[in-house]
Amino acid sequence: MAYYSIQGIPLTTLAKQFGTPLYVYNADKIREKISVLRSAFDDISLSIKYACKANTNISVLKLMLAEGVDLDVVSPQELELGLLAGYRGDQITFTPSGVEFEEIEFAVSKGAIVNLDNLSVLEKFGQQYGSSVPCLLRIKPHVFGGGNAKIMTAHPESKFGISIHQKAEILDLVNQYQIKVIGLHQHTGSDIKDGKTFEQAASALFEFAKDFPDLELMDLGGGFKVPYSPEDPGVNMQEIGQIMGNAFLKFCAHYGKELKLWVEPGKFLVSEAGTLLTTATVVKRDPIKTFVGINSGLNHLIRPMMYGSYHYIFNASNEEDAQQDAYRVVGNICETDTFSFDFEGNQNERILNEVKEGDVIAFANAGAYGFTMASHYNSRFLPAEVLVDHSEAKLVRKRDTLEDLVRNQIFCD
Ligand code: LLP
Repeated sequence: MAYYSIQGIPLTTLAKQFGTPLYVYNADKIREKISVLRSAFDDISLSIKYACKANTNISVLKLMLAEGVDLDVVSPQELELGLLAGYRGDQITFTPSGVEFEEIEFAVSKGAIVNLDNLSVLEKFGQQYGSSVPCLLRIKPHVFGGGNAKIMTAHPESKFGISIHQKAEILDLVNQYQIKVIGLHQHTGSDIKDGKTFEQAASALFEFAKDFPDLELMDLGGGFKVPYSPEDPGVNMQEIGQIMGNAFLKFCAHYGKELKLWVEPGKFLVSEAGTLLTTATVVKRDPIKTFVGINSGLNHLIRPMMYGSYHYIFNASNEEDAQQDAYRVVGNICETDTFSFDFEGNQNERILNEVKEGDVIAFANAGAYGFTMASHYNSRFLPAEVLVDHSEAKLVRKRDTLEDLVRNQIFCD
């Protein structure tokens, strides 16, 4: 089955060669998703801006660059990583959330395109740069969309973007300082599968755009849902591309200019490409439940405990066994640390092929927001990362050592 190996290399071989816990990424899967996205918008002038908060491993960024995918970054550090990977500044968009103005200045100094998300920063931008540096504006369209409340970003109470109801204030500043707004941006949320939500947000932005004469692009954000289990179909990208593409072409016709369409997917490009490999350290047969304890935890993959997210879990050491059992899969962090949640966000038991201590327990959809959200909690090391490309597995990040935990600590007497 597809899940058990990457480009012909069994996951158990990777676990043995590099040890666990280990993040492994399949380069071909990333390329496949890029091409699915492009073909969904094939009659549109589309630029893909990979939201690299999902996965900033330099080898992943280099792959994106080689495939003609630009970057969306949210911090100066992501920007620097993009430059280190070989991106030019102008291939990078900086979409921060409520940051100090120095970060905006830094991005401008590197040639990145900045996306401004509040009126106060817009005013400072106008005072500093006038019409000399173009910018994008992040608009909050007051639309509800996203897999759960924590990852919705465009509803009225969200902190993100300038409210669509503040057009007059925006235009006052734009006119006062002659600010060159070349693009409008919105990002509705993450894990959205419904084409209607994308359409609703896009049409709100298109309506808003009429009073901005210098537009060169519209950025409709990311958020395309991915399949989280073998039975889950994910989004129909072709259909979404058609819905968004048609609405965009209609808008361009009204606007009187052929603009570029930008999208900013994170998960869609990298989620399915990644698998977290761990080892079953204990099988604990409690009177009520059977727990599988693994040598990883919420410090390495926080999505289940943070959002109640579902990750498909399987025993990579036991593909064929007919003997199955219900297991609650738990991490080794010293607090409730459960990996097995159902689709409603409740802790549950998973049916796995029989688990023995020492088996490799794997988590699908770990390519996005896995390693990038990992921490040193409980002073455990971060996992290593491996990229499989051209049927070759390469270590692209070493496992931490004690040095990494103490590097910046100052030993005082
Ligand atoms: N653009 C902007 C401005 C964003 O804030 C995000 C994600 C994206 C694009 C990419 O969204 P995606 O295509 O990956 O859904 N940590 C959460 C997801 C938070 C996403 C934050 N913003 C998770 O693990 O589900």
